[in-house]
Amino acid sequence: MNRLLDGLGVSLPVLAAPMAGGAGTPAMVAAAARAGGMGFLAAGYRPAQALAEQIDAVRAENVPFGVNLFVPAPVPVAPQDYRRYARVIQPEADRYGIVLDAGEPVTDDDDWANKIDLLTASPVPVVSFTFGVPDPAVVKALRRSGTIVLQSVTSADEARQAAEAGVDGLVVQASAAGGHSATFTPETLPAPVPLPDLIADVRRGTALPIVAGGGIAGPADVAAALRAGADATTVGTLLLRTDESGAAAPHKAALADPAFTETVLTRAFTGRPARGLRNRFIERYDAVAPVGYPALHHLTAPLRKAAIAAGDTRLIHLWAGTGYREARAESVGRTLERLAGQL
Ligand SMILES: Cc1cc2nc3c(=O)[nH]c(=O)nc-3n(C[C@H](O)[C@H](O)[C@H](O)COP(=O)(O)O)c2cc1C
Repeated sequence: MNRLLDGLGVSLPVLAAPMAGGAGTPAMVAAAARAGGMGFLAAGYRPAQALAEQIDAVRAENVPFGVNLFVPAPVPVAPQDYRRYARVIQPEADRYGIVLDAGEPVTDDDDWANKIDLLTASPVPVVSFTFGVPDPAVVKALRRSGTIVLQSVTSADEARQAAEAGVDGLVVQASAAGGHSATFTPETLPAPVPLPDLIADVRRGTALPIVAGGGIAGPADVAAALRAGADATTVGTLLLRTDESGAAAPHKAALADPAFTETVLTRAFTGRPARGLRNRFIERYDAVAPVGYPALHHLTAPLRKAAIAAGDTRLIHLWAGTGYREARAESVGRTLERLAGQL
């Protein structure tokens, strides 16, 4: 059924997508595998040591799993643009008594080298990359250690670049996806191409196995993606309200709150395009936010953390794909099985 993951014993063509920031958990990954699918631990924003602990937790379950990494692909921001943005949003932080860092834009590589060292020294079944293609030497080292390497792409052109780097398969992400876009060119918002069209476009240029996601809202979307040429599908948003999700309580509540009526792509929170529920922060600041990652992520992080603690959904990054209304408070296994129900 699924050329890429058959060898791992994965029988359900609906996978649990990686979700950084706390929503993805070892429990979610284990539950996805127990349902016959597979899940990904999110290594983004997580130092190597903390990632190692999550890997140990999933290994103890004796199930197939993957680890997803943000490839360092900084998008520089001019210091004056960064500082102007910091000044513009400071009044929001004032209400929590927080002074945002209006100094130099901070860039880091999210502990990249240590995470690669960890994953080559102690290999996991699958590794996936987003935001850019890593050095082919990294891909080679992981593959040599027996790991299946996947690359997230948002276009046929990015798929070609991934194939050149020697990956085993692609994660094709449509712009309807919740959270950060995997795009290699964050200066431009990803084009609103429906998932089946994007799959067909990528499929014309490559024979590599495809895992596809972005905006999947129900079993018909899963079936359409497989018909369009995907080998498996992946869902994130639909798992955000599940029992095993680590999403913050206000985030879970907002997904079910009729006061939120749409999702939009925005760079206002992190300086990279990401899709979330339209709220006050996006309405006020999206138009004036510069491109700049991870500098804007670090700038707004303390404000978002305080807003989460206060349950203030006006200021939280409420990541959500277009299918958010179908996210249910049930088990991960039930959601995945329901999605595969019409195959
Ligand atoms: C809260 C949240 C966090 C995410 N974090 C990551 C991540 O760490 N790495 C990644 O490659 N994709 C991340 N994504 C994107 C998902 O992996 C996946 O592409 C997306 O959820 C699929 O679209 P859907 O949300 O419409 O199902 C995230 C998505 C959400 C909703």
